[in-house]
Amino acid sequence: MKIRLAEKKEAEQIAEIHKTEIKKGFLSSLRGPFLTNLYSAIIESEFSFCVVSEKDGRVVGFIAGVLDINKFYGYFLKKYFFQSVLMLLPQIFNFKKLKKIFESLFYPKKENNLPKAELLTIAVKKEFQGQGIAKQMFEKFVSEIKNRKVGIFKVIVGEELKPAIKFYEKNGFQFLKKISIHNKQASRVYVYPIN
Ligand SMILES: CC(C)(COP(=O)(O)OP(=O)(O)OC[C@H]1O[C@@H](n2cnc3c(N)ncnc32)[C@H](O)[C@@H]1OP(=O)(O)O)[C@@H](O)C(=O)NCCC(=O)NCCS
Repeated sequence: MKIRLAEKKEAEQIAEIHKTEIKKGFLSSLRGPFLTNLYSAIIESEFSFCVVSEKDGRVVGFIAGVLDINKFYGYFLKKYFFQSVLMLLPQIFNFKKLKKIFESLFYPKKENNLPKAELLTIAVKKEFQGQGIAKQMFEKFVSEIKNRKVGIFKVIVGEELKPAIKFYEKNGFQFLKKISIHNKQASRVYVYPIN
């Protein structure tokens, strides 16, 4: 098992794991190619990075992080806006969905007293869970974020994602508060100060 930074060619595999393992998350309801673009941007941009675990040449888990969520979305919109709009076109005509897309992309504006750096997503393929892979990736994630001179980062997790909440609490995250992003759907905000 290798734990390392992701390469751009792995964005599609990462998007696939996201869609399969984070089924309840809103981003999973968007089209695969949109998610692939999102992960390509995370891998390329100087404001973000992605750690993967690889076994026999395949990605089996990942953690994506951003140093500054607003700057990252700036990069994403500049580089992928037109492609992404075309991909999402059928969904954009659905007003509720469009509202959710904007809430997902722009919630940081409403919550601007929170740390700018964020662990965006974490997932391990079902058949590889419970083997300490997320924990190992998380150690690499913290050392990478430390190298980028971040002092504290946050994670926002849906109240219903119990294994993820357990993982964060077991691995040193501190509970900060509850917020609601999509029309009252409860999420928890945790922070991780780096010492
Ligand atoms: C949250 C998630 C990433 C954890 O991944 P994981 O690789 O199973 O996590 P770990 O193996 O490091 O830890 C899980 C358990 O395995 C245990 N474990 C088993 N073998 C281990 C080993 N060799 N070393 C360390 N821990 C080990 C851990 O102690 C932990 O036990 P616990 O469940 O009693 O707390 C995974 O459940 C997942 O992908 N969930 C779906 C996606 C999701 O909801 N993501 C969050 C929203 S973005």
